[in-house]
Amino acid sequence: MIQIQHNKSIKNYTTFGVPVIAKKFTQFSDLQELNEVVSHPEVVGEKMLILGGGSNLLFTQDFAGIVILNQIKGIEIISEDMDQVLIKSGAGENWHEFVLYCVDNGYSGVENLSLIPGSVGASPMQNIGAYGVEIKDVFHSLEAFHIESGEVKIFNNEECKFGYRESVFKNIYKNQYIITSVTFQLSKKPIFKTSYGAIKAELESMGVKELSIKKISEAVINIRSSKLPNPKEIGNAGSFFKNPVISKQQFDELKLKFPEIANYPLPNGDVKIAAGWLIDSLGWKGKRIGDYGVHKNQALVLVNYGESKGSDIYDLSTNILDSVKQNFGIELEREVNIF
Ligand code: EPU
Repeated sequence: MIQIQHNKSIKNYTTFGVPVIAKKFTQFSDLQELNEVVSHPEVVGEKMLILGGGSNLLFTQDFAGIVILNQIKGIEIISEDMDQVLIKSGAGENWHEFVLYCVDNGYSGVENLSLIPGSVGASPMQNIGAYGVEIKDVFHSLEAFHIESGEVKIFNNEECKFGYRESVFKNIYKNQYIITSVTFQLSKKPIFKTSYGAIKAELESMGVKELSIKKISEAVINIRSSKLPNPKEIGNAGSFFKNPVISKQQFDELKLKFPEIANYPLPNGDVKIAAGWLIDSLGWKGKRIGDYGVHKNQALVLVNYGESKGSDIYDLSTNILDSVKQNFGIELEREVNIF
């Protein structure tokens, strides 16, 4: 039996940890409960928000609808042979715990994505990525519950239309599906991805002689821990902005004025710019206003040191957007979902 709670603080279900009250709140841990939730008279017609790890959102006001926590757990092997394994995880599993499970069992593919906050079910939504790997590289399929019809649909890799921090679930199918499980295709014969500069450097300073997925996972954990604030200690939602993509022409002009600009040329000729560099070079890194500010080691990350309001953090992000636009002519986009 599911329960509907009223006027519930959901601050502790989000990694930003700003104060927020949900008009209604409930949770489900299997498909049957999910069916019950969506057909419940207290839910029908309400604005819904499906919550996983709460690591990619910022509330700027109370939520006047129902917040639904996805608690579907369980990890199972679907099939395996000498080389590969298909592994299925409930959407409500914690992402990092899932990664550690794979690393401990010798399944390679997600080790570069260690320590990313959030749930397994949220990982394909925005095609999470770090240190040279994105979910789309290891994604096999997912099961999603169609809210309107109550049917479960399987989406394969192509159908998710993954892009940089993008999938169909963030645009054309927004608010239409609830992801219930994700299946990954991982390798039993490890393929090490260490081309990202920071990983190479970290493995060297760890004195690693023989590579393993465990060592790569440890290296990523070390890098993330040194650069990114731990949400258990300082409220944050990882990168607040996306890295913008600009034309080669715009890049060449900028490069004349700012020779140091951190950039990654893309195969199609466009250039991805490190938003962290843009924000940092304008002096925002480490800036603190009362209980909120820009993280001291990574300018892409906005932080809540304790009691700040979501709307204050949002206003800070607007000031940063304006400042980057004025100085570089680039319009940054927020990566975090704003409510
Ligand atoms: N940089 C600065 N100052 C800063 C931050 C970065 O000059 O304050 C420069 C760095 O020196 C480097 C470049 O910007 O030359 C890129 O920095 P980094 O390697 O730290 O990566 P990022 O572009 O800042 C992206 C992802 C992160 C992911 C890392 C590693 C986005 C929006 N962010 O950050 O993802 O962990 O690459 O792959 O794509 C997240 O999405 O929440 C997240 C943390």
